[in-house]
Amino acid sequence: DSMEVMMDKDKILQETERMVKTVLIDEKSGHDWLHIKRVKETALEIALKEGADPFVVTLAALLHDLADEKIVESEDEALVDIKNFLLKLGVDTLDIQHILTTITTMSFKGGNSPPVETLEAQVVQDADRLDAMGAIGIARCFIYAGKVGSPIYDPQLEVRDQMSIEEYRNDKTSAIHHFYEKLLKLKDLMNTKTAKELATSRHEFMEMFLEQFYHETRERRR
Ligand code: ADP
Ligand code: NI
Repeated sequence: DSMEVMMDKDKILQETERMVKTVLIDEKSGHDWLHIKRVKETALEIALKEGADPFVVTLAALLHDLADEKIVESEDEALVDIKNFLLKLGVDTLDIQHILTTITTMSFKGGNSPPVETLEAQVVQDADRLDAMGAIGIARCFIYAGKVGSPIYDPQLEVRDQMSIEEYRNDKTSAIHHFYEKLLKLKDLMNTKTAKELATSRHEFMEMFLEQFYHETRERRR
C-alpha cells in the first residue's frame, strides 16, 4: 500500500555494493572486489561524460561479474539470483532487464561477440575492458596466468588470432600471448569516445612493457 517506501537510488546502490563485496571478497582470479570498484568508478566517469544513465551503469558495473562462469557454476541461476535481488530492492523492471542484458552481452569471449546495444552497456563494457589494459591489466593478466598454470612466455606457442569461446577459455596460452590474443586489441574495440581517450595511454604502456620484456629476455618480438 502507500505506506510502502521505495528505497531511494543511493540506498539501492549501497545495498548492492555490500552484497557484491561479500560475494567477491575472496576472489583471486582478477575478478575481485577491487576490480569491480575500479570498473564502477571508471564506468561512472564515462557515463557522466557520455550522457548515459548513471544508475543503470553503476548497478550493471557492480553486478557485471556475478554471472561469469569463472565465478559461478550456473550462469542462468546466477542471473535469476541477481534479478530477484534487484526486485527485492524495488528496482524498476525495465532497469532490471537493461542491467541483465548488459551483463550477459558485454563479455570479451575471444572477441567474437556482437556489439552491445545500449549506451549504458557500451559504457560498462568499455570500463571493464579498460581494466584489462595498462599497468593494472598487465598485473591481472599475470595473476590469471599464474592461477591457471600458464607460463609467463612460451616461444613455441602460436598466437591464436580468431578464437571461439571454447578456445579462448581453454587457456592453452602464455601471459605474453594473451597480450596479442586480447589486450592489444582492446583499444580499437572501445565503444565511446571518452573510453578511446582513456585507452590510449594504457595501450602505449603495454607496448612499452612488451618492448622492455623482449629486450630483457632477448626473445624475438612477435
Ligand atoms: P571478461 O570479464 O571481460 O570476460 P575475462 O574473464 O576473459 O574478461 O578476463 C578477466 C581477466 O583475466 C582480464 O584481465 C583478462 O585479460 C585476464 N585473462 C583472461 N584470460 C586470460 C589468459 N588466458 N591469460 C592471461 N590472462 C587472462
Ligand atoms: Ni570484469
